[in-house]
Amino acid sequence: MPTSTNGAADRLWLHFSRIAESGDDRLVTMERGEGAYVYDTQGRRYLDGLSGLFTVQVGHGRRELADAAAAQAGTLAYFPLWAYAHSPAVALADRLVELAPDGLDRVFFTTGGSEAVESAWKIARSYFLLKGEPERYKVIARNLAYHGTTLGALAITGLPGLKEPFAPMLNGATRHAVNTHQEHSLAAADDIERIILEEGPDTVAAVFLEPVQNAGGAFVPPEGYFARVREICDRHGVLLVSDEVICAFGRLGDWFGASRLGFRPDLLTFAKGVTSGYSPLGGVLVGDHIVEPFKEATASFLHGITFGGHPVSCAVALANIDLMEREDLPGRVREHEGALRAALDTLADLPLVRDVRGMGYFYGIELAADGAQLSPTQREWLVRQFLGRRLLQEGLHCRADDRGDPVIMVAPTLICGPAEFEEMRAILRTVLEQAWKELPAA
Ligand SMILES: Cc1ncc(COP(=O)(O)O)c(C=O)c1O
Repeated sequence: MPTSTNGAADRLWLHFSRIAESGDDRLVTMERGEGAYVYDTQGRRYLDGLSGLFTVQVGHGRRELADAAAAQAGTLAYFPLWAYAHSPAVALADRLVELAPDGLDRVFFTTGGSEAVESAWKIARSYFLLKGEPERYKVIARNLAYHGTTLGALAITGLPGLKEPFAPMLNGATRHAVNTHQEHSLAAADDIERIILEEGPDTVAAVFLEPVQNAGGAFVPPEGYFARVREICDRHGVLLVSDEVICAFGRLGDWFGASRLGFRPDLLTFAKGVTSGYSPLGGVLVGDHIVEPFKEATASFLHGITFGGHPVSCAVALANIDLMEREDLPGRVREHEGALRAALDTLADLPLVRDVRGMGYFYGIELAADGAQLSPTQREWLVRQFLGRRLLQEGLHCRADDRGDPVIMVAPTLICGPAEFEEMRAILRTVLEQAWKELPAA
């Protein structure tokens, strides 16, 4: 059997990547992690400034999470949640409901975020069918917002570039309102109402919003935004879904983003940080009022996933939550978020930096050419050719992203503090200074 020629990914198909660039010997292959750092197969060390992919809240190499996985695999490695329960899922559901915003009293488990988003949409749709409102199936989300890549989640995603190739497979049941960067005022909430009215309120099932929107670069909503959205949803009988695949489990300095921002969703999707990535898991926290019609004798939710709520993942999530509680990682984020912001703000004098925004351990650094928009050639060079590679060469993993305006996303593990922020700041400055010198003409 032929094997990969140079230790690179000749056989492995990387996600969201160009095959032309992934099979060469410049590809970095990670091998192990320890604390805030990961190490590649050459033994080079990188500060993980993105928590893998907004996931590794407790840092790398935490033995007790690996031990929890091994213990569960040795006790009951697998059983489905189809008509049976298993102990770790029962315990984790209890634990999540205790931590969640009031009123979210039941958990439907999946294996990841896209499935959580699709499950939430299907729960909303099924809820309205049971309530005798069969016309309500549409979803409203926001421009640029990323809610996943499977077809249902992709329909909710507001990134035309990701959707266009698959447009015939998406069914036109979703609309997108302005995000809080396009319109940083309560008018952004009113745009959701405008769309509800255009579509006909009794056709809209749900609004999907991240507490702080990732794609586009950590859009923090203006004061009062979610209160206004809540009011609008209540007025029109539309469900509010908080997509917290990124924003939960301490990322914004609380267990859930809705708790930190003080709003009350009807459903809440989570994934990533629930296990700190030590095993895949996602799910939907569902309001008791939404579950109510499913309690009728013959009602059932026609949806399930073989590995949803996998016992090993649930055991890992319980150990992860124990660890986060013991080390008070959400509290640590609140304590140090100002220092992270201050470190990143020092980059604002660079000609390539237009804005620094975010909260908790979740920031976007928006890039521009001395205040002017980067040309397509400059974006391609900066985001796709230069930044990712140079940042890694300097020992920092974070993410250059141009799904909206070009940004560098920074989301360190929650164990990081001022020393790691300083290391990030120094590398970002070096690399952005060099990028400015080498930036191609517009
Ligand atoms: C807000 C949000 N929703 C959904 C998803 C999809 O999650 P997954 O990649 O686990 O399917 C993501 C992934 O980054 C996300 O950020």
